[in-house]
Formats: sequence, structure tokens, C-alpha cells
Amino acid sequence: MRTVDLIQRKRDGLELSREEIEFLINGFTNGDIPDYQMSAWAMAVFYRGMNARETADLTMAMARSGDQMDLSAIPGVKVDKHSTGGVGDTTTIVLGPLVAALGVPVAKMSGRGLGHTGGTIDKLEAIQGFTVERTREQFVRQVSDIGVAVISQSGNITPADKKLYALRDVTATVDSIPLIASSIMSKKIASGADRIVLDVKTGSGAFMKTLDESIHLAQAMVDIGEQVGRETVAVITNMDEPLGLAIGNALEIREAVDTLRGEGPADLEALCIQFAAYMTVLGGQAASFEEAKDRAEQAIRDGSAIAKLKQFIHAQGGNASIVDDPAHLPSAPYIVEVPSESDGYIKAMDAESLGITAMMLGAGRATKEDVIDMAVGVLLKKKVGDPVQAGEALLELHMNRDEKVFVQEMSDRARQAITVSQERAERTPLIQAVVT
Ligand code: URA
Ligand code: CA
Repeated sequence: MRTVDLIQRKRDGLELSREEIEFLINGFTNGDIPDYQMSAWAMAVFYRGMNARETADLTMAMARSGDQMDLSAIPGVKVDKHSTGGVGDTTTIVLGPLVAALGVPVAKMSGRGLGHTGGTIDKLEAIQGFTVERTREQFVRQVSDIGVAVISQSGNITPADKKLYALRDVTATVDSIPLIASSIMSKKIASGADRIVLDVKTGSGAFMKTLDESIHLAQAMVDIGEQVGRETVAVITNMDEPLGLAIGNALEIREAVDTLRGEGPADLEALCIQFAAYMTVLGGQAASFEEAKDRAEQAIRDGSAIAKLKQFIHAQGGNASIVDDPAHLPSAPYIVEVPSESDGYIKAMDAESLGITAMMLGAGRATKEDVIDMAVGVLLKKKVGDPVQAGEALLELHMNRDEKVFVQEMSDRARQAITVSQERAERTPLIQAVVT
């Protein structure tokens, strides 16, 4: 087999066989196929696409390119949830304990944040003592014992995807649906998920800006799941504004605690209940979506979800007293309110821009080497559709510096991310579509 022939066939819009796709992925991973040939192939895929069978074969070739987690020692159906990346997305920290309280094991590997989106692993580290490093044995034992563990992606999971993603990033071939779909699904499959629930974000803060594109991406991932025997449900959710009110690590932990108590922001709670219900149905612990939803609401009301959170934090070495007393979380020395300049209604919020503001305050990393300040971030006081008066706070900046110039720059940035209009503004429904 010659790489150049495979590039040419894809360039001409022809289909590649499973053996040919495996040849490309294996050769690229072990260094036999150089970056320039793989780049040319990725560009050919960008223009010509891949059918469902090719996409599934690419997914499995990448899933098998490194370590594969074997979770078979954990009883029950392992359901994983993945988000395509949002701003202020605190759902994993709510869902882990909530779903575990409903009897579905949650064995989750998560990532750190980069750029305008935060990472679950960073957020958990805002809890004093919480460790995200666990051996495979400890991880499996914890899930078997208490039903939930969340650890940092470790070892050599999908090296082919890692290498290909880095190449796509610099060759303008990231936004190809088969390449994104196979990239995401390969990591979930290598992480040992039996069933997968996907949160495909759409809107200004998301990877896919339109509903149409988001549905195509969701369908591609659901098709992969079907082809490879890992049942997958994709929920397309609005990312036109940040999820919940908090953006920033300790702020989001506090928001997760509030939500598990039934005192969180309405949108975050609604989303978490919806996802918990899908995970519970896929995990075989409820006969219907409605039943699962009722049970999720019940677990929040009766305190079993918050009790599971305490157990989970304690099991990973964290200070579980933060659940009853959030004063034990890191907090910022300076809180600056950003007021509205006019009366009206919140028309729009640029989630990506607010995510960048939180990052610039120190809540996220611009480069991999940056150190995060757990305490800082943005706390919204308003959401799209809310009325506001001139002088009333739109949001709070939680800061670790109070130099005038910096405060001014950050306040201006944040204010510009929010559009206030005279007319009543409609909120876009949070759940836009479900693809099964
Ligand atoms: N997220 C991924 O993991 N892979 C992509 O290709 C795009 C987003
Ligand atoms: Ca949030």
C-alpha cells in the first residue's frame, strides 16, 4: 500500500477500506507516514468527507492506537457523558454524583481547560486536597465502592488522535465533521464507555455556530456509536450564553453544590436532570425517560445527590466540608460589580468573550504552562431575557488584583459581551434537538 495512492483516492472522492484507514492511522502514529502526507489526506477528507463506515473505521483505528481502559470489573453498564466544550459548563460535577445516586456507575476521565473553556479536572482541584491522579486499580475500586470517580486523562489514550488533532490545528482541517466526530468518539471508546451521552453545544460560545451544523455533527457521532456497538444519544444544547451563572473554578464548584441541593440556576439544573435521565435510561436503571427524570428530581430533593457528592469528594481526598460550608472554598480578595449603562432587557451574552474574560482574570490558561487561580472568575447576575435597570449589576468580577487599569479593562470587556436592548428579548430554549 502506498500512502500517496490513498491520498489521491480520497482527493478524488473515493471510499477507503478499513485496511487502508488502519494503514494510514498506524503509519502516522508510529512515524512512518510524515506530517505532510497526513496533512494532505486530512485536507482531502475536509473537502470530500467520509461515509459512516469510513468514519467508524477511523474512530476504531484511533481508539486502538494506544491504551484502552478496561472497565469490565465494574458491575453495570458504564455510561459516559461528553460535552463538545462550553463556557461555565459545570454539568459533569453535578452529573457524576447525581447519576451515581440513581444507580448508574460513573467512571469518568476528564480533561483540563485550555483557552476560553474550563476543564472539569481543574475545577475539582479547587477543592482542597482533591486528587485527580489515581491508578487504574484505585479508579475501578472507587467506582465499584461508591459509584463515581473522576480522574485526569492519563496514560497513552488515543495517541493517534492527539497527533492528528495537533496537525489539524495548524492545517485548517479542524472543522470537518467526520474528523471531529471520530476524534471525540475515539477518546470515549478508548476510555471504556459502553454507552455515550453527548452534549453538542451550539451557538456563539460553541464549536458549531449553527443548529444545522450541530445536528450533522451529532448525527455523525450517533452513527459511529451504532456502527461500533456503543449506543449513543446526542443532545444539542444552546451555548448562546454561559451555562448557569458561574464561570471560574471555585465559583463553579459552589454552583455545582447549589445545584445538587436544588438551589442552583434553573438552566443548569434543567440540563443536568435531562442528561441524568438519558444516562439512567442508557444505563438500564430506568424503564422510561420520564421515570428517570422523576428519579433525578427526587434524588436532588431527598438529599441523596448531595450525600453522594460528599462521598465522592471524600473518596478522592478532598475536603468534603465545602459542601456544607462553601467558605472553605478559595475566594477572591476583590469583587467588582459591572453595572448596566441603560434600562432594558438582556438581549444577548457572548459566552466565548465572557469565557475569555474569566481566563484573563486567571481562571483559565492561555497556554498549557499557565497556572490557574482557583478563586477568580465571573459571576453573572443576569441571564438573557432578564430585565435590568441602569446602574444595576450585570455581573461580578472576582479578582486577585485591583489595579485601576486592569479593573477598567476587565469591566469594559465584560460589559461589551452583554447586549442590553429596549425591547423584551426572548430566551432561546436550552435544549434544541435530540439525536438518537
Ligand atoms: N474536540 C475534540 O476532541 N476533537 C475535535 O476534533 C474537535 C473537538
Ligand atoms: Ca456555570
